[in-house]
Amino acid sequence: MIDVTSDLQALRSRVSEWKHNGLRVGFVPTMGNLHAGHFSLVRLARRHADRVVASVFVNPTQFGPNEDFARYPRTPEADADGLSQAGCDLLWLPTVDAMYPFGAQQAVQVRVPGVTEVLEGAHRPGHFDGVATVVARLFNQVQPDVAVFGRKDYQQLAVIRYLARDLAFPIEILAGETLREPDGLAMSSRNQYLSPEQRPVAAEIHACLQAMKAAVQAGEPLSDAEAAARERLAAAGFEVDYAAVRQPGLEEFGGAARGACVALIAARIGSTRLIDNLEFDA
Ligand code: PAF
Repeated sequence: MIDVTSDLQALRSRVSEWKHNGLRVGFVPTMGNLHAGHFSLVRLARRHADRVVASVFVNPTQFGPNEDFARYPRTPEADADGLSQAGCDLLWLPTVDAMYPFGAQQAVQVRVPGVTEVLEGAHRPGHFDGVATVVARLFNQVQPDVAVFGRKDYQQLAVIRYLARDLAFPIEILAGETLREPDGLAMSSRNQYLSPEQRPVAAEIHACLQAMKAAVQAGEPLSDAEAAARERLAAAGFEVDYAAVRQPGLEEFGGAARGACVALIAARIGSTRLIDNLEFDA
């Protein structure tokens, strides 16, 4: 059975007791409303650690003023049950006051340069400052040996890797694979916002990523592959923020795409914004 705490001292003493006994501690930070994708991250953590802590904290500082902070789904009982079954030992549920003792507006901020300025960063100003700020705090609170993040948030993973290295957190960062529905839609807590009419259309995102991959591998110009994806998404009813093929560090290709590539899409259907990506070689 999983233990649950909102008390920082209780969290610290449990983790330090484990470490004192030579146990390796894994960590899976989340915003809750957990699904099979999150539980696969817990199982990955379990394979790399003797004990696993997960956190659930809907972090206000990573939501923009017109984003879905207030309606973000909160399902604490189901989260605790699912985490327990996935092999999580301790659920850390910080309060906003514990996370931001001087208030979110007066918080020390962590800002990662470079990789935060493109794609998601350009479309969601301040988002990655909020993510980096809360993840640095979570790392200090939990002090894990290994932390697991999903590849679905490709750019977030790059931000966390940069943060962990630059601030010398002694934490190994692991990436968990994206889990998909049978039609290819990446699992996400935001999928439940989709209406029954929108849900099948949402699978177009993965189809467009596959189409970009096929076009690039067939030697088509990148700009054509990207434009075709944008047009196809728009025709399906999406408002497209970006459909792009980038180098693994999210730099643009100067000319033709060669070697390791990542295709990324962010698009809105109705009021639901979805992101996904696909890594491949060209
Ligand atoms: O990916 C998420 O769920 C969040 O961005 C994270 C890493 C838990 C930080 O709030």
